[in-house]
Parts: sequence; C-alpha cells; structure tokens
Amino acid sequence: MQLKANPFRPDKPIDNFELFAGRAHELTVLIRSMFNTGHGNARHMIVTGPRGIGKSSFINQIHSVTDNGGDVLAKLGIDAGGFRFRFPVFKCRARKEFSTEQVVTALLEAMPTKISSENIRSIVGDFVDQWKPKVTVPGLLTLEHQTEAATDIGREFVRTVSNLWSAIKDERDGIIFIIDEIDTVAESSGIASFLKVTTEELVDAGLDQVVFYLVGVDGAMEHLMQDHPSVARVFENVELRPMNRSESREVVHRTLNSVPRSRPVRISDESLEWVVDTASGYPSFIHTLCFEAFEYDSDSYLDKDDFDKAADEVVSRIKRAELGQLLRAAGAGDYRRILIAMAQCESTLVPLAYIGTEIGRPSNELSSYMNSLVKRGIIEREDRAIYRFVDPLLRLYVQKLDVLEPTLSSLFDEK
Ligand SMILES: Nc1ncnc2c1ncn2[C@@H]1O[C@H](COP(=O)(O)OP(=O)(O)OP(=O)(O)O)[C@@H](O)[C@H]1O
Ligand SMILES: [Mg+2]
Repeated sequence: MQLKANPFRPDKPIDNFELFAGRAHELTVLIRSMFNTGHGNARHMIVTGPRGIGKSSFINQIHSVTDNGGDVLAKLGIDAGGFRFRFPVFKCRARKEFSTEQVVTALLEAMPTKISSENIRSIVGDFVDQWKPKVTVPGLLTLEHQTEAATDIGREFVRTVSNLWSAIKDERDGIIFIIDEIDTVAESSGIASFLKVTTEELVDAGLDQVVFYLVGVDGAMEHLMQDHPSVARVFENVELRPMNRSESREVVHRTLNSVPRSRPVRISDESLEWVVDTASGYPSFIHTLCFEAFEYDSDSYLDKDDFDKAADEVVSRIKRAELGQLLRAAGAGDYRRILIAMAQCESTLVPLAYIGTEIGRPSNELSSYMNSLVKRGIIEREDRAIYRFVDPLLRLYVQKLDVLEPTLSSLFDEK
C-alpha cells in the first residue's frame, strides 16, 4: 500500500488563500472595511455563522490580504488604487472562563513579529504587566482588577494603542484586532462593555485607523447585547451562510489541486454531487467526508465506493456518540418517526407534505412537532413547509439507524 498525504483538513481552519473557496461577497465586505479603516474610517465588524461554516478560515484571509493582497484582489476583481493594506494584525482566541483582562492582554501579547521592536515590546509590555491576571497558586487566578470598571481597562488599552500607533504610523495603514470565539466570553466577562467603551474612546482619541473584528457562532451578538445593549450599533454583522453548490464544489477542487502534480487525485462527478448535497453547504462536512474517502481510495479516483465507506466510517465511528446523543435529544415516538421519514427523502430539503404522507398524518397535525424539533436545534425551516437537518451527518446516521442502533430505530426509547 502506498501512503499519500491527505490534503483534506477536517476541523482545521484554513490560512492559505489557494485552498480557500467562495465567499467572494463576504471577502469584498471585509476588504472594503480594511480599506476604509486605512483611510481613517474604521467600521468594526462581527462575523457570525453556525459551527463549522468557515468563520475562522474566513477571518484568517485577512493575512492573505495584508501579506500579499494581489492574489485576493485579482480574484475578486478589486482595484484598490495602489493601497497596500499594511496592517499589523493582533489576533486572539477567547476561551470559556476568560475574563476581559485575559482576553485583552492575550490580544496585545499576540504581537505580529513584523512590528515587534524593543520600543513596541515595552509599550505593550507595560499594559500586559498591569492588566494580566497574576497567578499566585497554580490554577487559582487573582484578578487584581476584578472590581475595576470596563472603563479603566478600555482607557488604558486606548492609551497603549495610541502609543503603538504613534510608533508605527509612518510604515503602516492602521491596526487590526481580531477576537475569535467571542461567544465563549460574550455573556459573562464584561467584554461587551469593554468593546463599547474602547471603540468610543478610539474615536475620541482620533484613532480612526484601528479596527476590531469579532468572530463567533450565531447568537454571539445577542449574548454581547445582554452585557451591553448598544454594542450592536458598533459592530456591523457579516453573516456566513451555508455555501452554494458551486462554492462547495470549489472546496473539493481547490483541495484536490493542492496534491502533488506528479500524483494527481480526481473525484467522480457523481461523488462530487453527492458530497455537495450531503454536506449542505458546510465546508467542515465536505472536509470530513472527503478526508475519509481519500483514506479509503486506492486508485487516485474518489468514487462512490470510497464515499460509501467514508459515510459509514463517519457516522458509525467518528461521530457516532455525538449523533446518537443528538437523536435522543430529538425525542422518541412521532419525533423519531418524522426524522426517519426526513432521512429517507431523496432530497436534503424535505417538504412537510412528504413527511405527512410517509408517516400517514395530515401535515397540519405536524406543525407542533416540527416547531419543537426546530427549537431543539435538530432541524431547521429552509422555506415555508420545507425542512432540513441542521447537522447533515444526522441524516446519514438516521439512514443507517437499523444497523447502528437497532434499539433507537424502534421509535420509542427503552424504559
Ligand atoms: N472557504 C473555505 N474553503 C475551503 N475550506 C473551508 C473554507 N472555510 C472553511 N473551510 C474548512 O471547513 C472547516 C471548518 O472551518 P472553520 O474552522 O474555519 O469553521 P468555523 O466556522 O470557524 O468553525 P467553529 O465554529 O468550530 O469555530 C475546516 O476544515 C476548514 O478547513
Ligand atoms: Mg472557528
């Protein structure tokens, strides 16, 4: 058996623009925002979307623009009139339980090496020394500034950024701050108040070339608003939706194009369409299914046989526990009957009338069941009276229920 390096990367965000598919409109919005920031009119943004839709990969493309904007601008047909997008990018990933102090110090500590000089390290270092929570006993944080208002850290942050900007402004067009996974701290840490104070103070200080980009799952903004309602006015929302068919195909093609030319790997048209359908526009599922098919493939041609094995592997091993739990959370009896009917439909978009016929009930009797399944996050309404599984892999799982979980396929949970 010849080993070959698998180019698919389930659950790893993409940096490389060569591998990055679609999202032309959203990238254009992002580049416009960077361009305006460079011209002293920063527009802060929050990128949202469901898990696995490609948020981190999308925001990573900021580096593609700042490092070598040419390729990105050319692909999008954008003329920036010679503007060079020379932004240092500070980026951190928030973690559950992080305080605002931890998020903000982590952000400044993530200093891009390009601007790291002695002088700048000391500007940032002073702030970090003052605000980074000190660990005295292992595992126990003493938050020295816990009682201080967001105003203090916001003001200090702006003062630091102001010094930073003075030091670099001759060679730079602005400064970008990115906080990924903002949802993990949105509600509890006071980060929304910090952001509100900071963005206002930046304007007051004339720092209009400094921009914040937040990234979080759907609902992140609602959580931030519970902390500080007016934060919604400050951040423009860029929502990442499931990819369309041509973007989904592009994910596969770009990834396959990255394998060494001496040993090309292709995919059959039939399998490509199957992956596109099954993944329902989620690049994470495209990568998961293609990764497994690539592992099974032995003739450098990904075909139905490889994907049948891949689907089996994904639902019966890799995601089995997760999917089983999801199915149990959906409810038994008629709830399960509805899901089995939906999974058996040839299309991933299932008309309510089809479900009614399959389970022998008039559609109007189903609406409360459908609403509950939507509330439980199992299915979503695509259009009037058209539904689909939220997690496309749950559809595959339910299709194979007889084999995987004979007890669950009996419709009622065992008492
Ligand atoms: N535009 C894209 N082109 C090709 N592959 C992509 C694209 N966007 C995302 N992917 C792939 O999809 C998967 C999920 O991407 P990513 O981690 O960026 O999603 P996310 O929305 O940040 O997920 P999470 O909510 O878990 O943080 C990864 O395997 C990544 O490589
Ligand atoms: Mg992410």
